[in-house]
Amino acid sequence: MAISASESGERWIRDVARGIDGWLTDDEARYLWALAGAGPGRGVVVEIGSSRGKSTVVLAAASRAAGREGVVAIDPHLHHASEATFRANVARAGLGELVRPLVMRSDEAVVGWREPIRLLWIDGAHDYDSVRADWEGWAPFVVAGGVIAFHDTFSWDGPRRLVEEVLFQRRDLAVIGIVDSITAFRTVGAPTAAARLRSAAFRRLRRLHELGRQRRLPGELRRAVRWTLRALSRAATPRAR
Ligand SMILES: C[S@@+](CC[C@H](N)C(=O)[O-])C[C@H]1O[C@@H](n2cnc3c(N)ncnc32)[C@H](O)[C@@H]1O
Repeated sequence: MAISASESGERWIRDVARGIDGWLTDDEARYLWALAGAGPGRGVVVEIGSSRGKSTVVLAAASRAAGREGVVAIDPHLHHASEATFRANVARAGLGELVRPLVMRSDEAVVGWREPIRLLWIDGAHDYDSVRADWEGWAPFVVAGGVIAFHDTFSWDGPRRLVEEVLFQRRDLAVIGIVDSITAFRTVGAPTAAARLRSAAFRRLRRLHELGRQRRLPGELRRAVRWTLRALSRAATPRAR
């Protein structure tokens, strides 16, 4: 079972996003499309870490297709890509009006921030202290029922530890998706029994998925774990339009 991004999303990912260098897999792009277009909550999408704009254009195009608020794209653009490349990619995709770039670090951008956020996508600095500071600084602006999604939650120690040691223990966060290296949470007041069960299933499958990614599971079991994770993630995510 694949994560679906709707027909227009599939076309967009194939024709536009794939042409931009970056670290997202196609399935991760589909999942972001679904979260930005049909995910719960109201407010903007905040992206921490834009690089050349691969995830930015997916989030912005999905928001536009769904008639929802656009993306605030935060990156100091010091490392992998220049600000010019990012801006050129966003402009070429025709998404200039949907993307508000903040060319600064996330800890600078959060100072004075007031807007509600429906989707917080954290893919900036990957060391533990930075990713934890991103979550602590920005999560208070995520609306009730909104989504916080992290990239690289397996092979990078910072996001992996934050997810496993801190976020999995919180009762105000329910796991709603694990797709390739993304782990996504929804903010919940009091988790329902169903949400608790689902989070527990995700946590157990996550361990197996990790072993699978390290090629320490037989191929058949690896594929079964991926399939089950996708089915669970899909069931917990509203259908993309
Ligand atoms: C892995 S890349 C992001 C990839 C991008 N999301 C994509 O889809 O291609 C990480 C980015 O985070 C940016 N970054 C590093 N520290 C940051 C910080 N403190 N605040 C915001 N962005 C940061 C880097 O400049 C880099 O462009």
